[in-house]
Amino acid sequence: MAVRKPKVVVTRRLPDPVETRMRELFDTELNIDDAPMTADELAAAAARADVLAPTITDRIDARVIAAAGERLKLIANFGVGVDHIDVAAATERGITVTNTPGVLTDDTADLTMGLLMAAARRVVEGSDVIHAGGFHGWSPTWMLGRRIGGKRLGIIGMGRIGQAFARRARAFGLAIHYHNRKPVGARITEELEATYWDSLDQMLARMDFISVNCPHTPATYHLLSARRLKLIRPHAIIVNTARGEIIDEDALAAMLEKRELAGAGLDVFEHEPAVNPKLLSLPSVVLLPHMSSATIEGRVDMGEKVIVNIRTWMDGHKPPDRVISSML
Ligand code: DGY
Repeated sequence: MAVRKPKVVVTRRLPDPVETRMRELFDTELNIDDAPMTADELAAAAARADVLAPTITDRIDARVIAAAGERLKLIANFGVGVDHIDVAAATERGITVTNTPGVLTDDTADLTMGLLMAAARRVVEGSDVIHAGGFHGWSPTWMLGRRIGGKRLGIIGMGRIGQAFARRARAFGLAIHYHNRKPVGARITEELEATYWDSLDQMLARMDFISVNCPHTPATYHLLSARRLKLIRPHAIIVNTARGEIIDEDALAAMLEKRELAGAGLDVFEHEPAVNPKLLSLPSVVLLPHMSSATIEGRVDMGEKVIVNIRTWMDGHKPPDRVISSML
């Protein structure tokens, strides 16, 4: 007897090999046009699917979950962050939520290091000068940035990505400090020669570089508030490849404009895709369009994780990357 394939609705275009495999394995609806779905379209998709495969551009809120049909049992997110999904509402309805941890750790850590380097050494400004025909010869006092080696880096959130970034930063001679809900284990502490701060305020006031690497949850919304940003020393540079909502973007932009902070490297924004206009005009800020996991290999690996989660669920087992709402 033929087994009915689950109806899987994929909300955005995914890499070709992922889409092809999903068509082979499931009754898959693809979004060939790649246009982000409206709230009504998402609700309609939740009503007809067994599995929804959304991304960060889809707001799977309580209204979408309430519209889910009896058959919706799995939300297999393409991405590690799940702040766009109301996981508690899904759990309440008996819908499992999965994500794609691990496979984008190194790519994200690489780009975090790249942003730190770009902001500290004025890489984008330098490149812009050349493109504008403004390079008229070397000068001892021109385009001076800030040395990276020998400085202190404070990492907010020492999960997989925070640790992978810390390893890279160590290789550049940075001293690793971090704030986390709890200290990491002895082996990692020793490997990274890392210093733990239970007080974020205390850490912020002492660092040369600060990197945001924690998930966005109700507890981390505006963790870098206007008050906390004021604690940071004016020569410091902030990097964020996690979520824009963790920093009060208006307060950050105002401080950068007044040169109360030396610079920033931002891959994510509080009201994405909108970017605070003040940031756009500041040469001390390097801005990227949420691309820290954007490698061909990474996006295929993420797709494979989505497939494994759906397959495991389909076979009657618990998917490996279940998101537990009490852990958020
Ligand atoms: C992630 O995986 O969370 C990336 O930020 C894209 O959503």
